[in-house]
Parts: sequence; C-alpha cells; structure tokens
Amino acid sequence: MDAEQDNLENLIKQMTLEEKIGQMVQADVHWSQDIKQLIKQGRIGSMLSLQDTKLINGLQKIAVEESRLGIPLIFGNDVIHGYKTILPIPLAQACSWNMDLIFEADSVAAGEALASGTQWNFAPMVDVCRDPRWGRIAEGGGEDPYLNARIAEQRVKAYQRTHPGNRRMAACVKHFAGYGAPIAGKDYNSVDMSKRQLYETYFPPFKQAIQAGAASLMTAFHDLNGIPATANKFLLCQVLRQEWEFDGVVISDYDAIGELIQHRVAKDHREASLLAARAGVEVDMTGNAYHFHLSSLVTKGLVDESWINKAVYRILALKQYLNIFEKPYVEEKDEKEIFLTPKNLDTTRKMAEESIVLLKNDGCLPIETPGKNIAVIGPLADDPGAILGCWKCAGDPHKTETVLHAIKKKYSESKIRYCPGCTIDGSSIDREGISRALDGADVCLLFTGESAEMSGEAHNRAYLGLPGVQNSLVELVAEYRIPTVLVVMSGRPLVLTGLVSRVDAVVLALHGGSKAGEALANIIDGTVNPSGKLPVSLPRAEGQIPLYYAYNSTGRPIETKGVIQFNKEHKTKYLDLDHTPLYEFGYGLSYTTFTYSNYQCNKTEIKPGEEIRFSISVTNTGRRAGKETVQVYLQDCVASIARPVKQLYRFHQLFLQPDETTEILFTIDSEELGFFNEEGKVVLEPGEFSIFIGPSSNAPLCGSFILE
Ligand code: GLC
Repeated sequence: MDAEQDNLENLIKQMTLEEKIGQMVQADVHWSQDIKQLIKQGRIGSMLSLQDTKLINGLQKIAVEESRLGIPLIFGNDVIHGYKTILPIPLAQACSWNMDLIFEADSVAAGEALASGTQWNFAPMVDVCRDPRWGRIAEGGGEDPYLNARIAEQRVKAYQRTHPGNRRMAACVKHFAGYGAPIAGKDYNSVDMSKRQLYETYFPPFKQAIQAGAASLMTAFHDLNGIPATANKFLLCQVLRQEWEFDGVVISDYDAIGELIQHRVAKDHREASLLAARAGVEVDMTGNAYHFHLSSLVTKGLVDESWINKAVYRILALKQYLNIFEKPYVEEKDEKEIFLTPKNLDTTRKMAEESIVLLKNDGCLPIETPGKNIAVIGPLADDPGAILGCWKCAGDPHKTETVLHAIKKKYSESKIRYCPGCTIDGSSIDREGISRALDGADVCLLFTGESAEMSGEAHNRAYLGLPGVQNSLVELVAEYRIPTVLVVMSGRPLVLTGLVSRVDAVVLALHGGSKAGEALANIIDGTVNPSGKLPVSLPRAEGQIPLYYAYNSTGRPIETKGVIQFNKEHKTKYLDLDHTPLYEFGYGLSYTTFTYSNYQCNKTEIKPGEEIRFSISVTNTGRRAGKETVQVYLQDCVASIARPVKQLYRFHQLFLQPDETTEILFTIDSEELGFFNEEGKVVLEPGEFSIFIGPSSNAPLCGSFILE
C-alpha cells in the first residue's frame, strides 16, 4: 500500500461511524436549515449545485477548519454543455462528429467550472437514445453506441485532464443504465429490454467512459426490467464491479434512493437505504436515506461496516485525486478573467458551426450577395434563452447574441425586416407583420423551433412537430413564394414532414449555445461550409418511434417482396407512411459535393486474431472547400443471433479543397466482429461480412470478406 493509501486508511480508522456515513451524504443548500452545523459535525461529504465561490469557500472553511477531522467537501454541478460560456447541447455537438473539437469544448467547460469551485461534474451523460419524445435526448450523443462511446471517451478525458493551476475535475458518467429507452418516451418511466440489448446498445458508452478513467458513475431513476437501477445488483455489482472492475464512486441520482419508496420496492427510507447499500450505491444525492438510516442498519448488522469503510475509502480517494486535501479552496477571481473569454467564445462558435446540419438546399444557400432584402421571421430569431439549451448552468441570456443580431451584423448593407410572426408555443399568427416583413424581400430566413424548456429532464413531447402554430407560420410564408430558408433550432429531432417541400433550404441547428447566432450567420452567408451529420434518424412521424438505422432484417424485410398472402405483400412496413426516416443517421449536406471511389481491401478472408484493411478515395467535386465525414458500416451477414442490417464501425473526417482527392485507410480487428449473446458474452462466429462506406448510414455496399 502506498503512502497515500496509508493516509486514507489511517484517516478512516479515526472516523466515527457517523462521520463515515457523512462522507456518503451529498446535500444542496435547500436540504436542511442546519447545513452549516451538519458540515461542522462531519455529516456532509459533498455539496450540489452551488455556483457562488464565496459561499463555496465559506462552507469549505467550516468543513476544513471547524470539523473534527477537517475533511474537505467536494462541490458538484451539472456542467453538461458549458458553465458560463455555453456550448451547443450535447446532441448538437454529436452532429459535428468532431472528437477533437468536443474535447476542446469540454475543456473550456471544465476550465470555467473549476475556476468557480465545481470539481465534481455530473457529466458526461452517455445514454443512447432512439426516441426523440424523451426530452433528455438533448443531453446525449444520439442513437448509435459506437458514436456515443467515442464521444464519452473524449468528454471524460477532457474533464479529467490536468487543468491550469493543477486543478482536477471528476467526471461522473450517467445514468446507469438504459435510461434513454423509457417506455413511451416518458422520462423516469420503466425500461424493459433484454440483457443482450443492454450489452450491445446501451452499455458500450459507459464501458468506454470507465476505460477512459471516469472517476464516478451515477445510477438512474428508472426501473430496469422491474428492478430500479439504484437498487439493481445486476447493473451495480455484476456488470459494473465484477465484469468491468470499476473502482470509482457510485452516486445515486437526485434522491433516487428515496424514490425506491415510490417505485414500491421499499416501504420506507430505512428499507430503501438497505436496498441501495446492498446494491453498492456509495453516495446518497440529497436524499433522506443514508443520513437518517444507514447508521442503524450497520449497528443492527444488516449492512457491514467493512462495506462502509470501502465506500468511504473510494470517496476519500476521490478527494485525494481532486487535490482538495492540499488545495480545498477556490481562488476568487475576476469573472472577466475566467468566463466568456475570446478563446472560450471562439471554441463554442466553432462547435456551433460544426454542429449545424444542412438537410436541404435547392441552391438558395449560401446568401453571398450583399445588399439583398432579407426578411427575418420566426420566434427563435431573437430569443437568446432558447439557444442556450436545456442545461445552461451559469449561462446568461442577457450576454448572448441572438441570431437576428448576428444576421444584422453580417448583412449590414442589406435591408432587413424582422417579424417574430408568432410565439414559440402561442396560438396566433401576426399576418400583418409577416406581410410587411416579406414585402419586397429577396429571401426569407425563417427561425423556428423549441424553447430551451421544451427539452431536457422531464420535458417529453408526444407530438414532435414545430410547437404552437409554427407549422402554419411556415406554410403562410411559403405562400409568398419567396426563396425561404427554414432554420430549426430545437433540443431534439422534430417531425418536419410536409414543411421540407414548402421551403428551398432546411437547416437543423440544435440549440447551439452562446455563439449560436454568429455560427448560423456564418453558415448562411457561406463563411463556413456546413459539415454536420445527423447522430439520430429524423422521423417522418411519431408513429415510427423508436427509429434507428441499425434495425434487424426481420423475416419479411421491406427491401424484399415479403410474403404474398391474400394477394398482398406482407412485410415490415406501414400502410400509411414510408417506413424510412425523413433523413437518415449520418446524413448532412455541404455547399460542395464529394464522390467516393477506388475501394480496395487487402484480404477477402481473415482468421480470428487477424485484421482486415481497406481503403477508399474521396474527391471534392464541388467549387468550395469542405469537410466530409466518411462512415464505415459493417453487416454480419448470417449469425446465430439476428444482426442489424448495418452497424457503424469507423468514421473519419476529411477537409478537402475543390478537386482534391484523398485516400483513407481503415483497419478492423477480427475481435471487433463479435457480438453479444443472450448472456451478454461476446461471441465470434465465422461467416461473411459486408462493408458499406459512404456519407451516411445509407452508404452503398463496397465489398465483403469472410471471417474463417
Ligand atoms: C437530476 C438529473 C441528473 C443530475 C442530478 C443533479 O435530476 O437526473 O442528471 O446530475 O439531478 O442535478
């Protein structure tokens, strides 16, 4: 045991049972009027949601200088997409597919949070989600486990890097597990799926985050296959501790231990404490369970003190990792030094630009000609709050430039007429105002979408069209037959069916943060060539949900004639809707065009333990430089368990000048070709694999190989 471990063991030996349990309690300032007294008694180990550095240092001073053992507090916050400089929401960032930029963006978030005293970040949220009714789809990386896992890795590394001043942050990967698949898309609702599905789709980003060194993990609110995640031994003991050998701290979500009573698996807080402790939950976030009941469970022999000691060891080791025994206080600095610096604003602007997805362009974008008469219409054009998104932390709408302001700056010689036309969720349309704005206009920029409060936690929607009367607003504007760009600024994929055909261009700009306005203006005038690609399938209708590209063929695939019964084609489809997404996973246009050619593969057969190498050439065949995200999908053609028609295995980003061609080489190891069986074990089976390479999940078949 090294000296540091020795110190912690010695410290634990000095602690009373109450002081040990104190480390397992996280409070917020509303939790008790006696918060200062409880800190002095060593009954609180960490605090939640404080942003005032004076208050943070004041409470820390009590813990360090007035409590018996002087153990410092950790201060936690949800820095999901920025602290004061707000970044695009995570789902928007996922549209960039740019791992380096995500790392840079999260480094900005962590730097501002650390400078404000937050050292425990309840992020990354890595819940795969294939259901845009669920409001928290905004917080994650979309529908695909591979893309989510790549992003999770970057976020953990960015948060837990050594920051200026040798400050350290602890990541907290959440919400374990399967939280993104609630029945009917309602937050907190039950999740029911096979273990195989959990291992194949919902576990990979968590496992990747843990392999990247995540210091902590948060349990989820929902019941998984009938057992609440916060009392689920399969999740927290078998998978997390035994199979993945996670040795970090496990914290509940907000009073999720107490909610075991509402789940009706515990009759009171005492029983809830017992269930959570036996599953291995080590910190009770703002609940009344551990603080009031864990001690008596230990003295009655129902919970071993040896487990308490192990939990407290992990919590103290976290504090040691964060360096707060040596440096418990946060330096109170001038806000201008740490927040909204030019560098931080530049990062969030770049992130927003690369998060924008061009869905349709009949040629009216980019608007490069100066002096055009521009009508700016829509309720999102001048709404600084909406663009900050669902977890705006310390973000300030008053310090956020709106899209309208950015457009006016960008097109200073143009005559710009603005009319909101309607409110985000109102029921009336300002026909007069719209008519005046459109009078003499050469082009209309129509900014529609959701408020920040329409997505995020508990904010689920059953209808996914534009809220309020915005659909009618689009249709009204379309009647004027002026070239119209529809910009959708939301926290989730929306149903845009019926609108796309009415306008000349469609841009999806999921809530883009502090510099969303400038980013959109740079895309609209062509300063920046859009490169975003969808991390989620866009549905034609809510009835398609859950909707994802990695579906199984089924016995009656849509692509075949199916079975002719009663003179009808019986196959996996709808009578009343095209079964495909409106826009597919991985899709996104550019102001230039790219072609793929010259696919090559080094082998047509590989043995287990060998790797397959293949390459493709990509050419920029348009008139402007641009970024392309080349995507590689595989299909396991025949296996003992039905395999998806396609699965994302690799992606690579290229920036090409006009007429430039680049060859990209990919390597896939045979070990990656396995899949999970019903017990959650990886099996590798011989057989044929098809390779699809292209600009989206509709990538064409390029070739195949045999795994012997
Ligand atoms: C919330 C969220 C969780 C967050 C926690 C603390 O209810 O579910 O993601 O980290 O409480 O704010």
